[in-house]
Amino acid sequence: MAQPPSDPVISSAMEEVTDIVPPPEITAEAKGEAPGRGRLLGKNILVVGGGQSHNDFDPNPPIGNGRATSVLLAREGATVVVVDRSEDAANGTVALIQREGVGAGLVLVGDVSTEEGCRAIVREGLELLRGRLDGLVIVVGTVGAPATLPKNSAAYWDFVMNINLRAHYLILQEALPHMEKLPTGGSVVSLSSVAAYLPASPEPAYHASKAALQVLVQNVAYQFAPKVRVNTVVPGLIDTPMGRSAGTQIKGRNASAIPLSRQGSGWDIAYAVVWLLSGESSFVTAQNIVVDGGRIGTGGKGAKKLVAVNEVS
Ligand SMILES: NC(=O)c1ccc[n+]([C@@H]2O[C@H](COP(=O)([O-])OP(=O)(O)OC[C@H]3O[C@@H](n4cnc5c(N)ncnc54)[C@H](O)[C@@H]3O)[C@@H](O)[C@H]2O)c1
Repeated sequence: MAQPPSDPVISSAMEEVTDIVPPPEITAEAKGEAPGRGRLLGKNILVVGGGQSHNDFDPNPPIGNGRATSVLLAREGATVVVVDRSEDAANGTVALIQREGVGAGLVLVGDVSTEEGCRAIVREGLELLRGRLDGLVIVVGTVGAPATLPKNSAAYWDFVMNINLRAHYLILQEALPHMEKLPTGGSVVSLSSVAAYLPASPEPAYHASKAALQVLVQNVAYQFAPKVRVNTVVPGLIDTPMGRSAGTQIKGRNASAIPLSRQGSGWDIAYAVVWLLSGESSFVTAQNIVVDGGRIGTGGKGAKKLVAVNEVS
């Protein structure tokens, strides 16, 4: 008998799926309900894109990757500068951090779409953190460009590349020389996407930008070794406002595409980032850590169908 996935919050986003083997009980970590364990006590961390986007069609949005990451970093004891072009979005994240009562959150308004914006984010972030930056997370990314830019135009391509690739490059270039000077070194994470490995959608610039980002990060990891570790986290289908927005355009963007039978949550991504920023991963650099419920690792297999299970038994 078909059962709905067990947790509608992080299972199937906008599309209900009833014909797959349901996932096991969702962990407290994946729901963002586990307590902090002091894994980042005393660390100063900048999160670029730490706010959260908003969809008018969705009155009850799940948490985004940037917001969940910022909150979890603070829950683990860090002081987090939440950077966003939207002051409201950054304020929303810092309000959640303050409610946690662990670590600290500071708002910095900044826009990564210009070179000066990228450099100012690092400069002003360092000022807020009194000159010491232990960790950097670059979350900002866009699937497409505003409707004013024609699809397949050079301007559309440039818009996506500018945010997804050039901004990451400029921020890394500005921040890492400071992190390199620390006796403890530092750790950096950029958010990529499984789009780097699954290149079939109508958004070529998104796929190309994420694939290039992974190589950029590996190059920067080499340049700044041995003092700064640089990695990407590679999300699969994650139930965030951005994921739901993409889901309105891509049929089948739901749990049935995933061997673990559910979409990920922003918290699933945040835990991978916390690990990479903590001393627990001190021998890991130049890696792309895929967090996708098994989709890439199984060669694009989806969830097991209930029908198939019945046929075997
Ligand atoms: N949700 C998914 O399924 C999924 C899958 C793969 C990869 N990702 C990656 O995750 C990242 C998005 O994370 P999210 O879910 O937190 O997204 P989000 O849209 O909720 O949050 C991103 C934040 O970045 C801010 N931002 C956008 N443009 C900016 C700019 N020019 N300057 C400064 N801030 C800006 C937005 O205001 C927003 O608050 C992207 O890199 C995306 O490619 C997401």
